[in-house]
Amino acid sequence: MTARAPAKVNVALRVGPPRPDGYHELATVFHALTLYEHVAATPGDGVSVSVEGPGAEDVPLDGRNLAARAATALASYAGVDAAVHLHLVKGVPVAGGMAGGSADAAAALVACNALWGTRLARHELHLLAAGIGSDVPFALLGGTAVGTGRGERLTPALSRGPYQWVLALADGGLPTPAVFAELDRLRAGARVGEPAVPDRVMAALRSGDPERLGAVLVNDLQAAACSLRPALARTLDVGHELGALGGVVSGSGPTCAFLARDAEHALDLAVGLTAAGVCRDVRRATGPAQGARVLG
Ligand code: C5P
Repeated sequence: MTARAPAKVNVALRVGPPRPDGYHELATVFHALTLYEHVAATPGDGVSVSVEGPGAEDVPLDGRNLAARAATALASYAGVDAAVHLHLVKGVPVAGGMAGGSADAAAALVACNALWGTRLARHELHLLAAGIGSDVPFALLGGTAVGTGRGERLTPALSRGPYQWVLALADGGLPTPAVFAELDRLRAGARVGEPAVPDRVMAALRSGDPERLGAVLVNDLQAAACSLRPALARTLDVGHELGALGGVVSGSGPTCAFLARDAEHALDLAVGLTAAGVCRDVRRATGPAQGARVLG
């Protein structure tokens, strides 16, 4: 049984103060992109994982693997034997701020649900997903959605698309907890209010106008990601100089996401970013993309 799940960018990511449980209250707009993780689930002995694709060597194969955790959680909830081999094919940059590991978990949930015939409903899968990681519920849902709480409480957003994106991949990953901790350090002493998605972001999404959306992209984690990885500021500058409608660090980084006017403009931007030598690699993708689904 093979399933796929999409990468995401956050077109808006507002971060509140740290909570007693160590998480931060978020107000975000997730937007799924046509970069996919594929997970093939076959009957196995216990839960085992193999990985192929760029960055595969950096993906843990043990109990830390989010796809393995998803399969184990589903089996325990449904009362079946956790017996599956999961083969992951990486299409999303590893540790890039695009929720590739979360997409693995979402794809594993729907693949195992089909393989084992457990027939859990979407809302049950959503609950399991939220227990695995903050971004896993959105990888199940896909499309464009407002996320609150840790990011796990989702409301689909009215959005016209498609939008053309160019992703500038960086060398090495940035650990999400370190980026949140850096944000807290940068904010030390400052009063931080409840986070909210700006109305202008929702209006831009409804308009379907990439110029409007590009002008309002916002990420509170960007300053922290750039503080830990100063080269990102240069990547963002070069994207703007090359005429991107907007550019933002994706999630906790280090991938930078740029919005283009159309497919031709996206190709020009991708070529320009590559020629400028400010990133390890580039990808083009469109959004919104469908959430996790079984391919058969
Ligand atoms: O939920 P997930 O395991 O993906 O989160 C990874 C880490 O990112 C958390 O342990 C926490 O340090 C940070 N985080 C946060 N606030 C959020 C989401 C993640 O501080 N809303």
